[in-house]
Formats: sequence, C-alpha cells, structure tokens
Amino acid sequence: MTDSITNLVVLGSTGSIGRQTLDVVRALPGRFNIIGLAAGDNTALLKEQIKEFNPQYYYHSNKKDQTNFPNQRYISMEEMASLPEADTIVVATPGGAGLKPTLAAVRAGKKVALSNKESLVSAGSVIMQDAAKYKAAILPVDSEHSAIWQCFEGESRKFAKIILTASGGPFRGYTKKQLEAMTPEQALKHPSWKMGKKVTIDSATLFNKGMEVIEAHWLFGIPYEDISVLVHPQSIIHSMVEFADGSTKAQLGIPDMRLPIQYALTYGERVNNREIPRIDWTKIDKLDFEQPDMEAFPCLKLAIDAGKEGGTAPAVLCAADEVAVSLFLAHRIKFNHIAELIARTLENHQIIKQPALADIYAADEWARETAVDFANSLEK
Ligand SMILES: NC(=O)c1ccc[n+]([C@@H]2O[C@H](COP(=O)([O-])OP(=O)(O)OC[C@H]3O[C@@H](n4cnc5c(N)ncnc54)[C@H](OP(=O)(O)O)[C@@H]3O)[C@@H](O)[C@H]2O)c1
Repeated sequence: MTDSITNLVVLGSTGSIGRQTLDVVRALPGRFNIIGLAAGDNTALLKEQIKEFNPQYYYHSNKKDQTNFPNQRYISMEEMASLPEADTIVVATPGGAGLKPTLAAVRAGKKVALSNKESLVSAGSVIMQDAAKYKAAILPVDSEHSAIWQCFEGESRKFAKIILTASGGPFRGYTKKQLEAMTPEQALKHPSWKMGKKVTIDSATLFNKGMEVIEAHWLFGIPYEDISVLVHPQSIIHSMVEFADGSTKAQLGIPDMRLPIQYALTYGERVNNREIPRIDWTKIDKLDFEQPDMEAFPCLKLAIDAGKEGGTAPAVLCAADEVAVSLFLAHRIKFNHIAELIARTLENHQIIKQPALADIYAADEWARETAVDFANSLEK
C-alpha cells in the first residue's frame, strides 16, 4: 500500500458518480483526504457530506437555497479544480458544466479523474493539447474507457482496434416506430446501470455510446475507423482491444462504477476493496453480442459522424443533445425528436475546422439557441 495520502476534490459529489467516489474513499481509509466538494442543487446531501469529510472548500449552484458552511470556504469549481494542494480532481458534473473545471484542472497540471464525457467530446483537441503542455494526466472513469486503458497496459497502441461494448439500453430491439411512444419514465429504466438522468437518456438513445467513441479517439489516439461498437446486453465485458497480432484483450466485471472509479484513483496499484462485487462464473451462462441498430438509434451515427467531422461539430452535437434531453425529460418533445433536433442543429452549423476555445464556447451557445428554436417549431 502507498504511504502517501491523495488530496481529492470531487466535483458533482451529490450525483451517482460523486457518491460512488465517496464510497471508494470510505472503503479505503487512510488513502484519501477530501479537500473540496461541489454539488448542484442538493444542498441537504452536500451538508451531510461536508459533516462527514470536513473539506476545506465547497461549492453548490443552488440559487434558492443559499446554505453556507461556516467552517468551509465557498469557491468556484474552477478554483477548486486548480487548488495547489489538490492532487486529483474527480470531474463528475454532467454536460457542458464540466468543461471549465476540466480545463482548469488540466491547466493546473492535475490528475483528472474524468467522468464527464461532454468536455472531451466538445473540446477534445484543446484538452489533450493542454494536458500534454501542462503535464496533466487524464484518467478515464467511464467503465468502457477504463476497460480499454486496462487492456492497453503494457501493450503497444500501434494497429490496435478498440471494440466498445454497449448494453443497448432499455429499448434494445425496439423499432423506430415503437420508440416514438417511449416516455421519459420508460427511458430512465436502464437495465444494467443506475446513473444520473442525462446519461441514462443518452444511453437509451445510444448517443452516450457515440460520445464514448469520440472520447476513446481522444484518450487513446486511435483513428475513428479502428473504433467499433458492439452491443453486449449482459454488461460484463466493459470493452475490448484487438492487437496487431490478432489477439484480443477484454476487461470484465460486474457492472459497478466503483471499480473504474477506484482504478483511476489508485492508478498504479490494484487495491483490495471487498465491497466491489466479484463475478460468480457459475451464474453467467452466456455472453451475447450483436450489431447496434443505427436505423432505430440514429444518435449513435450522428455522434460518430460529428466526431469524424471534427472542429466545432462535436461541441454542437453535445449542446444540441443537452437541450433535447432536457426537453424530453420535461415531456416537451418525443423520444425520436432527440435525434431530429441534433441532426437539424448540426445541418445548420458552419463548422470551424481548427477551433480555438472561444470558437467552441460560441458553437455551444449557438447550438443551444438553435436547438430550442427547432424544438419550438416541432411543438407547433
Ligand atoms: N453514473 C454513471 O454510472 C456514469 C458512468 C459513466 C460516465 N458518467 C458521466 O459522469 C457524469 C456525471 O454523471 P452522474 O450519473 O453522476 O450524474 P448525476 O447523478 O446527475 O450527478 C451530477 C452531479 O453534478 C451536479 N451538478 C449538476 N449540474 C451542476 C451544475 N450546473 N453545477 C454544479 N454541479 C452540478 C449534481 O448536483 P445535484 O445533484 O446536487 O444537483 C450532481 O452532484 C456525466 O457526465 C455522465 O455522463 C456517469
């Protein structure tokens, strides 16, 4: 066991990934010191977490509840992500809200345990360039990218092909016609993972898997042509890598995000955590695989195409999706409208091929406004 204590900041501590990060911290006493916690609206849970972990800093974005904590300092997520005393920053704030803190952590040369997908998808070129410049380490938390990372340990990436697995979500096997009537409540019932609402809807549309293709491209420097998606409903194989000689490595485990979170936080060492469930092989009678249905789930192709297009296209993709998902959750648009809004927004965007960060922010803002306009025309 390592004898140094990691100073940890957890952004999004009240969410699914944030809470599981704190479970890992509890399960491995003496390894981590929580110095900052950031939440959105759930100030009640943040209060409990502050009482338990006594961090020096906190943040929440709840405008209605101005609860403050007298023994802690309120600072922004960007400040928290770049605190000199912080070693590792867990970014588990969803959507566009994760980009600025991710960049702040990268530019401060931190270890960034990255759960937020949208930041790497929207601004992958800027983040990866800055990570190299400021010697920051991006440690993937997503189970698929953690699996690929583990498969690549000790291996060459030359001629390697990535196979990203997907559970297929709650609507696997449905036709486009059947999907028309699907409600947010039905879409929120994920068969294998318990996650926040945005990522759960993104899993139901397969948009999430498209984002993961783009993330994998940036994280591992693998061309899009060598990244494929395979539906694997049992979610036991978290992803695979095929190497130059034809050998394939896979990483397997019970679907439980504490494992990839812990792998990132304790990177370099495999630590015994008995709370993480083990596979009972006598209970696994089969592992199934099938091709994803791009016709019924057009978000997957939209995302992969935007990734290949590059420039500002992925930022527009993410922003349009964020608007579409929130409108779907509010019952204002139908399930199939999510893909339609994203497609129409992308079609109307003038791509900037080599964007600066300002271009990415501008594309994001434009896409949010444009997607709302299209949604209003849909509702009429
Ligand atoms: N959950 C998973 O299994 C999983 C797996 C892979 C990747 N991810 C990715 O990890 C990220 C987090 O997912 P999640 O499932 O943990 O989401 P979640 O359960 O919805 O939690 C989101 C967290 O971020 C906070 N938050 C939301 N908006 C904020 C804002 N504007 N400012 C500050 N804090 C804000 C929330 O605060 P309140 O709750 O206090 O409002 C909560 O703490 C997403 O990007 C997702 O794609 C998740």
